[in-house]
Amino acid sequence: MQSGNQSGSQPRIGVIGATGAVGVVTLGLLAERGYTNVRAFASARSAGSTVTFGDRQLTVEEATPENLSAGDLDLALFSVGTSASQALVPHAAAGGAFVVDKSSAYRLVDGYPLVVPEVNGNRALEVMGTHRIAANPNCCTIPLTCVLKPLHEAAGLKSIRVATYQSVSGAGWQRMEQLRAEHPNDHNLTMDWSWEGDESDEESKLRAETRKIMELPDLPVSATCVRVPVLVSHSEAIWAEFDRPISGQEAAAILRESASVKVLDLPGFPTPKAAAGGDEILVGRIREDRAAVNGISLYLSNDNLRKGAALNAIQIAELVLAEQAKTRP
Ligand SMILES: NC(=O)c1ccc[n+]([C@@H]2O[C@H](COP(=O)([O-])OP(=O)(O)OC[C@H]3O[C@@H](n4cnc5c(N)ncnc54)[C@H](OP(=O)(O)O)[C@@H]3O)[C@@H](O)[C@H]2O)c1
Repeated sequence: MQSGNQSGSQPRIGVIGATGAVGVVTLGLLAERGYTNVRAFASARSAGSTVTFGDRQLTVEEATPENLSAGDLDLALFSVGTSASQALVPHAAAGGAFVVDKSSAYRLVDGYPLVVPEVNGNRALEVMGTHRIAANPNCCTIPLTCVLKPLHEAAGLKSIRVATYQSVSGAGWQRMEQLRAEHPNDHNLTMDWSWEGDESDEESKLRAETRKIMELPDLPVSATCVRVPVLVSHSEAIWAEFDRPISGQEAAAILRESASVKVLDLPGFPTPKAAAGGDEILVGRIREDRAAVNGISLYLSNDNLRKGAALNAIQIAELVLAEQAKTRP
């Protein structure tokens, strides 16, 4: 057991999307952290199949409005895609569960907190007594904001440019299977998102979500997102400008003290392979941006299925559980 569940009764947890890339990792993390009262849900397609939970197998239940609103879940961790979340999340919340949703259904909707615990964890607590739904950000936004928040507090963020190198697992288990099946000569870079004018929806999400989480509604953010033939972990090259001068050494010193961040010094640098399976955001190449005034350039790699999705959602849920424990008689 790692954290969050060291005392008190076991919360009743539903993992919805338990057969998917994020759901499988969610089950693994819950088992590692000592939770035992866990149920697995997915669509009718995989109802009745089994998924691994620690040293047990769980039978997958169909996620229906009736099953999710029955009042027997304290937490519902959703990773099912936007339209399924829109159809099912309100029922789980109506049944009394606190919901953390990993799709984009609620991320940018006013009144629904978009939460990275290291940045704005208190926002999740604000909806405990109301609609009980918190949104988990995009897998690139989570590490980006974890790194930018402490630098912003120190020097005042003025603008961000970011280029992402995103693994295929960000697009679900079927894309992982496809990459595994391909001959290495077939591997290529892609931009497999929807286009909104001259930007992809992934690029506009990164801007809108970063502004919401950081509570900087006018922050200039320019992104180029690329899918690379890597199985797990997203990487990001970031160029950030600040109100005051900040050296590479000062930025590195700040990040060394920051939650969930591990700074790597040259000749080390972050790689997807080193980040995969870990909980930390690996950050390196921290240096002055030679093309900007008061600019810093840095590079990160992060496991998109763990801190970029499942782990961040569990950490949000653990903030809520800890708050509930304070008020329990
Ligand atoms: N992959 C990432 O790095 C990442 C990061 C952040 C957020 N997310 C978000 O997490 C969600 C899932 O992503 P994923 O990568 O895990 O996808 P995935 O591997 O394709 O898995 C999708 C899961 O959703 C279930 N599902 C689909 N439609 C459903 C429905 N109508 N009712 C109930 N369950 C349904 C599937 O169950 P069946 O087995 O029954 O089909 C499966 O368990 C997406 O919203 C995605 O944007 C993913």
